[in-house]
Amino acid sequence: MSFELIRLTDPVDHRAELADDVRRGLGSHPKWLPSKWFYDDRGSALFVQITELPEYYLTRAETEILEARADEIVGTVTPDEIVELGSGSSTKTRILLEAMRRAGTGRRYAALDVSEGALKDAGSTLVDDYPWLDVEGVLGDLLRDLPRVPRHGRRLVIFLGSTVGNLAPQERPAFFRSIRRGLRADDAFLLGVDLVKDEAEMVAAYDDAAGVSAEFNRNVLVVINRTLDGDLPIDAFEHVTRWVPDASAMAQSLRATRRITATIGALDLEVSLAEGEEIHTEWSCKFTEERLAAELADAGLAIARWWTDAGNRFGLALIR
Ligand code: AVJ
Repeated sequence: MSFELIRLTDPVDHRAELADDVRRGLGSHPKWLPSKWFYDDRGSALFVQITELPEYYLTRAETEILEARADEIVGTVTPDEIVELGSGSSTKTRILLEAMRRAGTGRRYAALDVSEGALKDAGSTLVDDYPWLDVEGVLGDLLRDLPRVPRHGRRLVIFLGSTVGNLAPQERPAFFRSIRRGLRADDAFLLGVDLVKDEAEMVAAYDDAAGVSAEFNRNVLVVINRTLDGDLPIDAFEHVTRWVPDASAMAQSLRATRRITATIGALDLEVSLAEGEEIHTEWSCKFTEERLAAELADAGLAIARWWTDAGNRFGLALIR
């Protein structure tokens, strides 16, 4: 019916935040960068490509669960609106939106994402395909801005794709508490998590044969060079991914294949890396039902329903 874009972060703040993160992260030992900076328009498009790779099982496994359970989820919650964190292209969301249409409970969808391109593309195709739907694209930070998304009745908040795994393990308690604070008694939170499994299968998902994951990883450097007038030599960094048992996570980084000195012009900052030095760029934490339940319980939340795909690779939790 309508598409509206709301900007919670303006482009100036966005750039200032990246500047702070680059100054802090590249000034640290070891060096690191927050993974949300992958997602400019190019990064969001590369991520869509990743979801179609043969090695990247996550999206297909989660889609399988949603297709089997969408009517049950919507029937249990009877939401007036669906609010999605980190919505990206909103492809899997369609399964829930169609279930909401069938159930006739609501006709509103709000998507919160860092990528303006992804929000506009997803929003305009959704309103074309679903003339009955009101869509609000909210440009902002999914960890910070949920309380600022205007509420229109009972909510189903959804956070799919195991994006919660991109939080550092120590960030999750505060995140789950903030979700808890934002939920009314009759709301629900639908959370998709990738499950701990055979190491080779997890590694392959982040190190595909076609090299899309590597391009996606290096895109954070492209974003920094463009936004902050940097001259980081993109080709001198190689994609690294490894399983870190202590964090129960895949960790992605960029490794300098030679000694590097670069300048970030807008920050008046010199960056140097020794040959072999790495910049940590992403956590992708993997869960078990027990571990997730324990972390949620610490935040005052409980798993009401739990489903997995037939291959037991991915889990979907309905939380209240
Ligand atoms: C954004 C959480 C869905 O961690 O699996 C894919 C991002 N990074 N390949 C993930 C990602 C490298 C992805 N999610």
